[in-house]
Amino acid sequence: MNNPRRILIVDDSLAMRGALVKTLRNDHLIIEQAENGLEGFEKVRQLHFDLIITDVDMPGMDGFTFCKVLREKELLNTIPVIILSSHDKESDIERGFQVGASAYLSKTDAKAHLPALVERLLKHSSLIQDRLIMVVDDSPVILDIITKGLIKEGFQVFPSPSGRAALDALERMQPDLIISDLDMPEMDGISFCQTVHKRPPLTTVPFITMGTESDRGKMRQVLQSGASTYILKPFNIDQLVITVEKLLSDHFLLLLKDRERLETEQRLMLASIASLVEALEARDPYTRGHSEAVSNMVTRIAEKLGVPEKQVRDISIAARLHDLGKIGVRDDILLKPGALTDEEFAIIREHPVIGAKILDPIPSLKKMIPLVLSHHERYDGKGYPEGLKGDQIPFWARMTAVTDTYHALTSDRPYRKGMPQSRAIQIITDAKGSQLCPKCVDLFLQWIDDL
Ligand SMILES: [Fe+2]
Repeated sequence: MNNPRRILIVDDSLAMRGALVKTLRNDHLIIEQAENGLEGFEKVRQLHFDLIITDVDMPGMDGFTFCKVLREKELLNTIPVIILSSHDKESDIERGFQVGASAYLSKTDAKAHLPALVERLLKHSSLIQDRLIMVVDDSPVILDIITKGLIKEGFQVFPSPSGRAALDALERMQPDLIISDLDMPEMDGISFCQTVHKRPPLTTVPFITMGTESDRGKMRQVLQSGASTYILKPFNIDQLVITVEKLLSDHFLLLLKDRERLETEQRLMLASIASLVEALEARDPYTRGHSEAVSNMVTRIAEKLGVPEKQVRDISIAARLHDLGKIGVRDDILLKPGALTDEEFAIIREHPVIGAKILDPIPSLKKMIPLVLSHHERYDGKGYPEGLKGDQIPFWARMTAVTDTYHALTSDRPYRKGMPQSRAIQIITDAKGSQLCPKCVDLFLQWIDDL
């Protein structure tokens, strides 16, 4: 749960309210209190609540009446209510469910079971909240019954009288689930389902088909067309709601698993990068931390420019890897304290290409290649490896060139001490338009200035 959820506790006993708050307290919950049904109802009208826990015996308005009143009000009738009672007589439990409570719990069990029950109900309501269901049926009566039934449960619903009209609407919206009749004029449910699943953002949207034919061949054909399930008409709305909830929760779990898998891959990838860069920097104490420092500066600048988070992460990784190809440069050249011969310099100049070759077979790192390959290109076209000029050089490679130069100038090297910041800034400013991209230099200087 990311956003805090708001819960209302309605009980006339201050001590009981205190005990419940203590039992439930955690960072994801905002807990409000009311003394009885009347006060509770006032609060619910003023604030949005995700869940209500109410006592039964209270002066003013008792818990059953409070629950019943809520169920009669539009917008409030989908808030889950837990009835908490000191009696656990069968008749009371029955009455609780009759007035529309989501759960009934005895006060003696509250400490042990309430937190898990609250979590379960909140999870369930977040599954439904803001979920958009598209319903397609050529019968206005059925369309209306299903639409009203789903709205009553808290879903958002977009009804459509035909597959064609639905396809038009799908250009502008992305429902979380689609329910469609099979037997419709113009476009039947099977072709509608197949067409929907061919559209990229909708390829995995859960799809429920409804029909009157109960033969196995037809059902098989429907499921082969990509539908998640088939329900036989006539059905009652509760059956449909349960099917919708089940599909949404399965789909949600699938998305969650997918996200976890991506996160694990990302973590493993970052760990491999860290060891690659460490292996590189372990050979040369003077460049230790260089890649990280260059990457940090580029990352901060990207963030300051408002680049989307995901892209910032890629830029950050690519900048961290910019000198990766130096792994392929011999020690006697890489670590040579004095000036390099032309031949040695030619070998050093191969490092962007070597870096790109290392990354090429790794699918998740392929997109880092442009920055790695082009970080030694010069704005005036006199750089390497390709002699690209101006805007031909990828923007973040140009930016990395600026921070790379700045960090190299200000750090100690075997043959010289690092120079003061003011001198480095002067050199970088002088290189505007020749070695370095003027726009990137300006952005870099602005960033340094704001520090
Ligand atoms: Fe480099």
